[in-house]
Amino acid sequence: MEKHNLSIVYTEYSREEELTPEDRQLLQSARKASDSAYAPYSRFRVGAALQLENGMVITGNNQENGAYPSGLCAERVAAFAASSQYPGVAIATVAIVARTEEFELTHPVTPCGGCRQVMAEYESLSGKPIRILMQGSNSLTWSVEGVKNLLPLMFQGEQLKK
Ligand code: THU
Repeated sequence: MEKHNLSIVYTEYSREEELTPEDRQLLQSARKASDSAYAPYSRFRVGAALQLENGMVITGNNQENGAYPSGLCAERVAAFAASSQYPGVAIATVAIVARTEEFELTHPVTPCGGCRQVMAEYESLSGKPIRILMQGSNSLTWSVEGVKNLLPLMFQGEQLKK
């Protein structure tokens, strides 16, 4: 028997000024997208902004449904829109911002497992690590370089082949 230990790395920015103007701009786009979330059930608004390698920025927000499982997270709304409009174009950075009127989100919201898996697929397609920026109600921001820092031992499509 052998035990293995995997570690993940994330960076914390406690002040807005620590971020580059590009990152601030992308987080701003994600925050704006969260304003248009359709979240009447959770009242939890999430916005995602994807910086593509071709310069385009694609945004999305969570879309809920009265039949709860039929809704979709902001990250997947944005990722699927990007892949459908710009197939094969690498995603360089994903900015995720969450907020709720109910209370202050003191910490960044990290993407759910399903969204991590979807980002992993596009990352492996392009062969380039996706940078993921996360921010809550205030300026405290976390970032990771590559989905492996959010989803160690991820399932990959290649595993379907012999
Ligand atoms: N949600 C997202 O859009 N992204 C996340 O990273 C976490 C959760 C949405 C799904 C649902 O509409 C609401 O937030 C509450 O879970």
